[in-house]
Amino acid sequence: MQQQDDELEGIIAPEGLARASASASELLNVLPQQSHSVESGGRLKLSFSHEWRDVINPLEISLVVDAAPGCGGLAWPAGQILASYLVQKGPEYIQSKCILELGSGTGLVGLVIGAIQNMDIWITDQAPLLDIMNRNVRLNNLETIVKVAELNWGATIPAHIPRPDMILAADCVYFEPAFPLLVQTLSDLSDAKTEILFCYKKRRKADKRFFGMLKKKFTWKEVDDDPHREIYNREAITLVWLSKI
Ligand SMILES: C[S@@+](CC[C@H](N)C(=O)[O-])C[C@H]1O[C@@H](n2cnc3c(N)ncnc32)[C@H](O)[C@@H]1O
Repeated sequence: MQQQDDELEGIIAPEGLARASASASELLNVLPQQSHSVESGGRLKLSFSHEWRDVINPLEISLVVDAAPGCGGLAWPAGQILASYLVQKGPEYIQSKCILELGSGTGLVGLVIGAIQNMDIWITDQAPLLDIMNRNVRLNNLETIVKVAELNWGATIPAHIPRPDMILAADCVYFEPAFPLLVQTLSDLSDAKTEILFCYKKRRKADKRFFGMLKKKFTWKEVDDDPHREIYNREAITLVWLSKI
C-alpha cells in the first residue's frame, strides 16, 4: 500500500490529510455550486447546490477522512468532480440503474448517488478501506441504499456483486502495476451497453500507458456537458465516458 501511495507523491505529503484537503479546497473554490468545510473531529463536509426539487438543497455529505488505511481515505478532487457532475445531472439521470463504483476510497461518489436516488449503489475498494467506507455510509444514514464490498482489481468479481448498468471510477490511474488489473476489472464488469464514467487526473507520462492498455478493450470520449470542465481541465483532471468495444 505504501508503494501505491508513493505514486501520489507531491500530493500526499508527510502532513498527508491537511495537504490533500488544501488541494481539494483550491479546486472546489472555483466550482460555483460546491463548498466544503472541515467539521469538528476532522470530518469533511461537502455541500452540493443543485436545482432538483425532490432532493434536499444543498445536498450535504459528511465524510470521515483518514490517510491511515491508504490514499483512498482522503477525498480526492477527481472524486469530488465526479460527485458534483452526478448531482448536476440529477436523480432521473441515474434512476433505475444498478451502479457500482470502483476504488471508492471514502465512498463520496456512491454516497452522493445514494442521497439523490433510492436504488442500491455498490461502493467497492480494497479491504483496508472498507471500515472508513462503512463509517461514512452510517454517518450519512445510507445503510439501506449504499452497499460496501471488497473488490480487488484483476481478481474474480465476487458472486454477490451484481453486474452494473453504470460503473463509476475517480482517480484510479496512479499506480502502474495496477493498470492492467483495472482494465481487466472494467472489462469483466461491462459490455457494450454499460455506461462508464471515468474521472482521472494526469500526473505523469506513464499514465499514458494505462490508456494504451485501455484502448484494446474500450473507446472513450470526453464528457462535454459539464460547465465546470474548463476549470478542472486546467488541473489536468478529465472526465470521460468509456465504452466497451
Ligand atoms: C487516489 S484514491 C481515489 C479514491 C476516491 N475514488 C476519490 O476520488 O477520492 C485511489 C483508490 O483506488 C483504490 N485502489 C488502488 N488499487 C486498487 C486495487 N488493486 N483494487 C481495488 N482498489 C484499488 C485505492 O484503495 C483508493 O481508494
